[in-house]
Amino acid sequence: VVKVIDSRPVLVTGGSGFGGSYIARTLADGGARVITYDIAAPRTESAHLLAGADVQLEKGSIDDWPRVFEVVSRYRPRAIVHAGGIMDVAFLDDHPLVALRTNVAGALYLLEAARLLGGVERFVLLSTIAVIGKVLYEPVDGNHPTITATEGPAGAYSAAKASAEAFCFTYVQHHGLDCRIIRPSALYGFGMSWFAPNYMKNIVEPALEGRPVRLKTGGEVPRDYFNVVDLASLVETLVEGPPDPVRVFHGGTGESLRTASDVAALVRKLVPGADVEVGNDWTESDRDEVRIRGQYDVADARRLGWRPQFTDLETGISDYITRYRDFRAVGGVPTPPPADVRDAPGLGG
Ligand SMILES: NC(=O)c1ccc[n+]([C@@H]2O[C@H](COP(=O)([O-])OP(=O)(O)OC[C@H]3O[C@@H](n4cnc5c(N)ncnc54)[C@H](O)[C@@H]3O)[C@@H](O)[C@H]2O)c1
Repeated sequence: VVKVIDSRPVLVTGGSGFGGSYIARTLADGGARVITYDIAAPRTESAHLLAGADVQLEKGSIDDWPRVFEVVSRYRPRAIVHAGGIMDVAFLDDHPLVALRTNVAGALYLLEAARLLGGVERFVLLSTIAVIGKVLYEPVDGNHPTITATEGPAGAYSAAKASAEAFCFTYVQHHGLDCRIIRPSALYGFGMSWFAPNYMKNIVEPALEGRPVRLKTGGEVPRDYFNVVDLASLVETLVEGPPDPVRVFHGGTGESLRTASDVAALVRKLVPGADVEVGNDWTESDRDEVRIRGQYDVADARRLGWRPQFTDLETGISDYITRYRDFRAVGGVPTPPPADVRDAPGLGG
């Protein structure tokens, strides 16, 4: 049997970032032609990950309609994976209109370009588990509400995601676009950005650099840590897999939750000599965040053929460590944290 590969490309927004670069690499390794659309060149970690892959960057902003239209009309992608946007959640809470103009309008410009130009067979939106606002039952499945009489998406970043999700349905209902939404839980892995206060980067990377890690908080905060490699394979399943009526998928392991204490214990086990201590205090954002943490149902993705590699946190962290060491071994220089990053516990130590 000869697999016929559609030569039209897949457009990946945010392809210079963490999730986007793994998605681009995975699709390209699977035989797809990949164009990334991003306002920035890849960070050092993403550049390392993309080295040698057949991936071409088109620079541009998702909130620049003429540029979005130009790129979609030039490449006529068969699929669009939308992983770009502003991730600085504290900044977006202070400036909700930025969330509207860039994150909501950016998604709509891509949907609209897909509608006007045609030929886009799949549209995959990277959303977030934080659209649910508060876990009302577990496992959290695709039918879990996002807005109730008393709860709503967590902050402007999530409000923008919920809005983009809602607009996806307009394009499904009225324009025949096959949209799928992924809501990832705490994403981790080599190349993760500093805007992810999920007690992983701040433990793994200093430990690998031989620095002591002393965090006062996080020891008890539970999460379904989701490895970026598995996010990329989930996207590939949704782009290349069969048609299906289900629109909402959770990006998680579906297993029980783990804490920063668990991460610390695994890092001590996996990195000889690692000096890591994580306390059990809670930050304000930990308390906010725990509302959305629960066990997520990933049965629909599995039904479509998705097989995650890292349902076990230890092997997932091992993969992170191996990739980080490989990057350092070839002279890779880690991206420093932005000067104004907030809410990322453990920065600097
Ligand atoms: N990291 C997580 O824990 C997490 C959790 C849930 C959902 N997500 C979602 O997954 C996706 C990828 O997140 P990530 O962790 O890779 O973030 P990231 O910050 O590493 O990547 C985002 C990319 O978007 C680009 N970008 C920013 N503004 C842009 C603009 N105006 N136009 C074009 N590109 C722009 C950035 O340059 C960057 O390369 C996002 O949609 C994010 O909301 C991430």
